[in-house]
Amino acid sequence: MATVNLERTADPASEQAFSGLIGAEYEMLKLICPAAADMSRQVGAFLAGWQCPGAVAGRRLKVLEIGCGTGITTAALLHARADTEITAVDIAAPMLAQAKTNLAAWSEAGRVHFVETDALSFVKELPGGSVDVVASGYAFHNFLDDYRCEIVRELHRVLRPGGVLINGDRYALDDSNEQTRVIQDELRQYFRVFAELKRPDLLEDWTLHLFSDEAPEHVMRLGPALALYRGVGFDPVRVHERYRNNAVVSAEKPQA
Ligand SMILES: C[S@@+](CC[C@H](N)C(=O)[O-])C[C@H]1O[C@@H](n2cnc3c(N)ncnc32)[C@H](O)[C@@H]1O
Repeated sequence: MATVNLERTADPASEQAFSGLIGAEYEMLKLICPAAADMSRQVGAFLAGWQCPGAVAGRRLKVLEIGCGTGITTAALLHARADTEITAVDIAAPMLAQAKTNLAAWSEAGRVHFVETDALSFVKELPGGSVDVVASGYAFHNFLDDYRCEIVRELHRVLRPGGVLINGDRYALDDSNEQTRVIQDELRQYFRVFAELKRPDLLEDWTLHLFSDEAPEHVMRLGPALALYRGVGFDPVRVHERYRNNAVVSAEKPQA
């Protein structure tokens, strides 16, 4: 896959969210939201067990990772199996810089290529049927609804028949009262962690980020997300894990 910089189509908020303090100290996520790292592990575990239809011995599987951030999910994917070549895309330079450092050995071995660009712009330039696996961890929920619809349609186009999309992410509960309770618990955890660390600056940024994730044009509810995957042609679409507002979802592109 080409490593080019393309015109951006994302809303600027996506880029800004991880270009400041949150991105610089992204390891805090483990403390305030341990489920995120678990989603990354589960995405790797799915890839490890995935049987690629029509796999050709000796040919590396082409994996496209959307929103690789600092490389947490990328590492899980790299450890999952040896027969992959990953193109990992992220829009935020400070996040990508950490991924490049953390995964330098894998990058030098040619197992992962990092591209700093908007994911949708990048995917739009890829030929149809050119990717075996699209993987992502905790990135899709950052997209605005319209953007998410468009990128999911494009991801279906670039996957080859028999290919799969695997995403471990924040999928909000369809019951909004339940979802509110989950978010209140998350906020309590933010206050506990950042008060102990005496970091009101991080508390402020993460709280604002949480509000942005929950905004009506942003929030990714499980039911509508599954309907979106099915609507663009993925079949079957499966929920593998559901833990509060987290889920691992796979969506296969039917073989012709
Ligand atoms: C919450 S982080 C998750 C990072 C990583 N996948 C992980 O498992 O830790 C979301 C990442 O998605 C990236 N992102 C958000 N919008 C994007 C876009 N439009 N194009 C590419 N990357 C984007 C952000 O820069 C950020 O690094």
